[in-house]
Amino acid sequence: MFDTIIRNANLPDGRSGMDIGIDKGRITAIDRGLPAEAGEVIDASGRLVSPAFCDPHFHMDATLSLGMPRMNVSGTLLEGIGLWGELRPLLTREAVVERALKYCDLAVSQGLLFIRSHVDTSDSKLVTVEGLLEVREKVAPYIDLQLVAFPQDGYYRSPQGVKALERALDMGVEIVGGIPHFERTMDEGRQSVEALCRIAADRGLMVDMHCDETDDPMSRHIETLSAETVRHGLQGRVAGSHLTSMHSMDNYYVSKLIPLMAEAEINVIANPLINIMLQGRHDTYPKRRGMTRVRELMEAGLNVSFGQDCCMDPWYSMGSADMTEVAHMAIHVGQLGSIIDKHEVFDAITVNSAKTMGLADYGIGVGCRADLVVLQAENVTEALRLKPGRLFVLKSGKVISKTAPRIAELALDGRPQSIDPGKDFVPGAAKA
Ligand code: FE2
Repeated sequence: MFDTIIRNANLPDGRSGMDIGIDKGRITAIDRGLPAEAGEVIDASGRLVSPAFCDPHFHMDATLSLGMPRMNVSGTLLEGIGLWGELRPLLTREAVVERALKYCDLAVSQGLLFIRSHVDTSDSKLVTVEGLLEVREKVAPYIDLQLVAFPQDGYYRSPQGVKALERALDMGVEIVGGIPHFERTMDEGRQSVEALCRIAADRGLMVDMHCDETDDPMSRHIETLSAETVRHGLQGRVAGSHLTSMHSMDNYYVSKLIPLMAEAEINVIANPLINIMLQGRHDTYPKRRGMTRVRELMEAGLNVSFGQDCCMDPWYSMGSADMTEVAHMAIHVGQLGSIIDKHEVFDAITVNSAKTMGLADYGIGVGCRADLVVLQAENVTEALRLKPGRLFVLKSGKVISKTAPRIAELALDGRPQSIDPGKDFVPGAAKA
């Protein structure tokens, strides 16, 4: 007897017709035709069951603030930072909490149950930090929220940067952030990476830096971040977010850099929606794509994950908490169209992201946490193509969100009366 059984599930590894037995919030059996009874039975009807999605890079203190106090006219990263600087003194803790909770509702409906959010530590009042610490506690029953102390205005460049970041860590923010490419000089950027890695080593924390989010081929803070990671023995506990300068770097230099990153076991986080929107803004034509070298980094064995970064904020007017939308963009920007590529891309929004976040017992396997999503798609490649409905979202084996399948009713003579985009268009189903 299980608490819950999901019947007739397809799994990301290609197995089909599987039953998943869940007890006390954990997966306790995966097999065909489990004979046991269950308190609740969910019929997956040959749909894909995935571990809940995992977003390793987000800004929850800014989300849903689009248009406050005005829109980003140029659309650039720098105007976005300026605009956020105008909004920040006007923020109240209550409003930050309310918007973040609203976003988390949306995330749950999208099967997104693991989020790493940066939280701005530039304002010495730390309203954003207080707000997101409250949110982390409030959503803990349904979302694992990790927080990164992020000196948006520069660790050294902002007058309060050094002290405010330390205070945020004292208050309970658990990861050390940074933004070396936004410090006054390349050298101050390097010094900030060194200082922040030392803080992380001293406090036993992970590191996740916005690193080289620029089109400048000479922006090379990822080199310093990798070297400092090795120096402090932080291998596997450090993430380099964005790394867009790698798109523009000289190939010879990259041939030296990537092995150094691999030695440091850097977790790479690309943010395809934001990278394609913000990078290449000073190009006329041709315009660079901006996303880091995803395929080459994966081939070198680095753990590559994809983040959403923004949802309706000063930097990005789009976004929907849908990690398959993020992956869909990555496929286009990175030209990752093969079936093998698509499985790696799906990993980048699930298991790879979980590895970046250091999540224990994540995935579909006996003993894993039963944090799952049933998608209106039959397999991984279809899930990425369709950005499908989330039919059931389960947290610790309990359904916390349901969406009816999207079925279109047609009124066409001689044609089917309805279509299910998640079933009727699967490649291979049609006869030649
Ligand atoms: Fe970011």
